Amino acid sequence: MASYDVIIIGAGPGGYVSAIRCAQLGLKTAVVEGRDTLGGTCLNVGCIPSKALLNATHHLHEAEHNFAKMGLKGKSPSVDWDQMKSYKDDVVGQNTGGIEFLFKKNKIDWIKGWATIPAVGKVKVGDEVHEAKNIVIATGSVPTSLPGVEVNNDGGVVVDSTGALELPKVPKKLAVIGAGVIGLELGSVYARLGSEVTVVEYMDFITPGMDADVQRTFKKLLEKQGLNFILGAAVQGVDASKTKAKLTYKLKKDDSEHTLDADVVLVATGRKPFTDGLGLAELGVEFTPRGQVKTDAHWATNVKGIYAIGDAIVGPMLAHKAEDEGMAVAEVLAGKHGHVNYGVIPGVIYTSPEVATVGQTEAQLKEEGRKVKIGKFSFMGNARAKAVFQGDGFVKLIADAETDRLLGAAIIGPAAGDMIHEICVAMEYGGSAQDIALTCHAHPTYSEAVREAALACGDGPIHA
Ligand code: NAI
Repeated sequence: MASYDVIIIGAGPGGYVSAIRCAQLGLKTAVVEGRDTLGGTCLNVGCIPSKALLNATHHLHEAEHNFAKMGLKGKSPSVDWDQMKSYKDDVVGQNTGGIEFLFKKNKIDWIKGWATIPAVGKVKVGDEVHEAKNIVIATGSVPTSLPGVEVNNDGGVVVDSTGALELPKVPKKLAVIGAGVIGLELGSVYARLGSEVTVVEYMDFITPGMDADVQRTFKKLLEKQGLNFILGAAVQGVDASKTKAKLTYKLKKDDSEHTLDADVVLVATGRKPFTDGLGLAELGVEFTPRGQVKTDAHWATNVKGIYAIGDAIVGPMLAHKAEDEGMAVAEVLAGKHGHVNYGVIPGVIYTSPEVATVGQTEAQLKEEGRKVKIGKFSFMGNARAKAVFQGDGFVKLIADAETDRLLGAAIIGPAAGDMIHEICVAMEYGGSAQDIALTCHAHPTYSEAVREAALACGDGPIHA
């Protein structure tokens, strides 16, 4: 039996980052992880493998659609799907191996197996019980499904995001349930690979919760890339054989029932916290009605010595939100003052163009009765974006009408996921649109569009 200052359960972005910070702060730290590799959903079957496939298929799309325009003539590359999957696996392997290296470097013990908490201060893995002054639950989340829809990632035709990364072949027809982040990222991958992709979404718009301008533009651009959308449709069930599936949905507007044939159905209707088997309820740990572990402002549960972070608790299910909480809870455990500013957590969709948002939306602010001004700038006015055929999309900044303080932003365009951070930093400092407008931006960069949007909050942009 080993004794630790902290045992963290789960080695996803929340858990592994927390462990590294705990070790840096001088705490004797162990992480329990039952997967064969570190990194959790994000590195193994989420963010990282999907980005590899998005990268590969983006190049294919460029070759097929834009190379000839630039004088790059010749046959477009053909797709070797098995090779593409092995490239993806290599990328995953490099990243998960990197975490293992960081664990060794920081003297963090990896306890291999699945943990239970038999009592406060004790973590059981297999037959061994380890002692810990504090335990951090970082067990993440798992995909949800729908009644009448049975997911089978082991060779079945109805899959979730994990199965969609490992399809034996590129499907002719792919039906996606849910026009959220996963549905649109993986839908894009397969559309670029030649699948006929139809996305069935319950709401009357895509990416619920996002800025309405972005929703409209994003849908149009995805349609241009060949994705089909059936909106306002409640999926009733999926009938699956070994090789085909029939999806039944009802249109909300007239209650009419329809079917959709597909070779593969991807279920992307959200995720739920995963805390099964830990024994938390038996210890008296409180949960929200949505199954999230309840925590206070310092990630402490109601049971002394048990903390929780990431997808397992309230808040957006994002790797970087979990990472921030992981670092902050480590500081708390080391007697410092960990803090996360939940008002400035960016969200990114890694399609082409990328979509990135931060802060509040125009609709949310108006509903709160806030007086706001909008600065919008189209990438059509950005020389660099036009040079790479990415003139569609825009930067939208939302600032307080009186103080000019930045309250939110949405970008749909090239490298949006990187550009959003200049706005995040400004917001962290309580910055104004004018602060960005007065900052020199290199030319020619996509980032100039952010400055132009900031200028649009004042006397006006230059290139519009
Ligand atoms: P999501 O919450 O983003 O989207 C789910 C979609 O399914 C919603 O549009 C919802 O209205 C729709 N839906 C729900 N029930 C339905 C039904 N019965 N019929 C039709 N549509 C239905 O969830 P998603 O895409 O599964 O992602 C899960 C989590 O993982 C999210 O929290 C997401 O933020 C995170 N994630 C983040 C990524 C990123 O940051 N780039 C990438 C992938 C996932």
